[in-house]
Amino acid sequence: MTTRVKKICCLGAGYVGGPTCAVIAYKCPHIQVTIVDLSKTRIAAWNSNKLPIYEPGLDEVVFSCRGRNLFFSTEAEQAVIEADLIFVSVNTPTKKAGMGAGYAADLAYVESATRQIAEVAKSSKIVVEKSTVPCRTAESMRTILEANCRDDIRFDILSNPEFLAEGTAINDLLHPDRVLIGGLQTPEGLKAQQALAEIYAQWVPTDRIITTNLWSSELSKLAANALLAQRISSINALSAICEATGADIDEVAYACGRDSRIGPKFLKASVGFGGSCFQKDILNLVYLSEQLNLPEVAAYWKQVVDLNEYQKKRFVSRIIKTLFNTITNKRIAVLGFAFKKDTGDTRESAAITLCKDFIQENAQVRIYDPKVSEEQIFLDLSEPGVIVKRRVTIARSAYEASVNADAIVIATEWDEFKELNFEKIYEKMNKPAFIFDGRLILDAERLESIGFRVHTI
Ligand code: NAI
Repeated sequence: MTTRVKKICCLGAGYVGGPTCAVIAYKCPHIQVTIVDLSKTRIAAWNSNKLPIYEPGLDEVVFSCRGRNLFFSTEAEQAVIEADLIFVSVNTPTKKAGMGAGYAADLAYVESATRQIAEVAKSSKIVVEKSTVPCRTAESMRTILEANCRDDIRFDILSNPEFLAEGTAINDLLHPDRVLIGGLQTPEGLKAQQALAEIYAQWVPTDRIITTNLWSSELSKLAANALLAQRISSINALSAICEATGADIDEVAYACGRDSRIGPKFLKASVGFGGSCFQKDILNLVYLSEQLNLPEVAAYWKQVVDLNEYQKKRFVSRIIKTLFNTITNKRIAVLGFAFKKDTGDTRESAAITLCKDFIQENAQVRIYDPKVSEEQIFLDLSEPGVIVKRRVTIARSAYEASVNADAIVIATEWDEFKELNFEKIYEKMNKPAFIFDGRLILDAERLESIGFRVHTI
């Protein structure tokens, strides 16, 4: 007989823990879900009318079950004691110092969450690794749990990596391409796998719930992100060839994407990928390869990240060259600051690199993003020795940002930028008025007919 899960606890109320467990509560009214976090402000926001993250559809899901079978709390101990199943959904950023700095994932948060579970648990639990972690992390979690718990308790560890994409998280969670559950191939491991599969089966067709061994599951998450990012770097590498030859990258991407073996998705050239996952997870894979003494494999994946950096630098130098080789004191309107549309998340956003380079060149930067707060922008741009506020101002609309600007730079593909009244914008800009479309979303011909000088990737 499989274990019936009645109470779930999730450690980590971030971009993954929050939406994922809110959807479980929404789809499984018979399960009580408590999401906990160390951050009091984050939990207070989850309990308020203004949730801490922006995600289309999230408000509806949370507001419909919060207080019914969905709770947000800072009381981790109580939630862990009561739970049959615990998701560990804490952050795993790239290490900044020590061994593997700049590549390896920092597992300190995963480890301390694991120790916390071991210390307070009074009964057996299924512990689910939701965070993205290097291959074989589950093994370390088990060692910690077994070494620190009471003798009469057992822990079954599962790997259940999350494949949601920010900006479409709720839709991705409601209609996932697949749910991956890795477990030890022992009778107990299989039973735990089955218990988690039963939860997802409340709304996910069973042929989309894949069960594998633990290590395959852990590696599949890194592999999926590396393959996705590789497509972006591949198309961006081709965009450089297009610019040098006069070929059009959108046409090339369309022609290639029509090949059913290649497919059309993720072939949009841009100023480069951002977000908290792609770069971090590839670097993690690079580190893993090096640890396994596979330097050629490491170099292969590292190139995906290197090309992404090259693409950002290339875009900045194109802007400077076009603006007559100097942007000192020129006004640049940066439209978009989030790493992609439909999210307020700015982690590793290409806009940060662009703006920092503009500041270095002594430009006057005016930023507008529909979902990113002023505080967040200044936090992201702050650097030792640079008085950012002297060079950067925040606008409340794209129109306001563009007044007296010499150039507009599209850094995020927000839909509202496609619908702007560019005649009105053109009137108020310095002439010649330049637009640099880093996301290939604008109709260049139309803008040129207004009088703009348009440059696209
Ligand atoms: P996040 O930084 O938004 O959230 C993590 C939260 O965990 C923070 O609020 C932090 O305060 C909390 N936390 C840390 N230690 C804790 C503890 N011991 N107890 C309770 N709370 C604790 O991170 P995010 O974006 O949610 O990512 C979480 C994991 O999911 C990472 O491993 C990431 O790689 C992975 N992931 C992220 C995706 C994304 O799109 N953001 C997509 C798929 C996976």
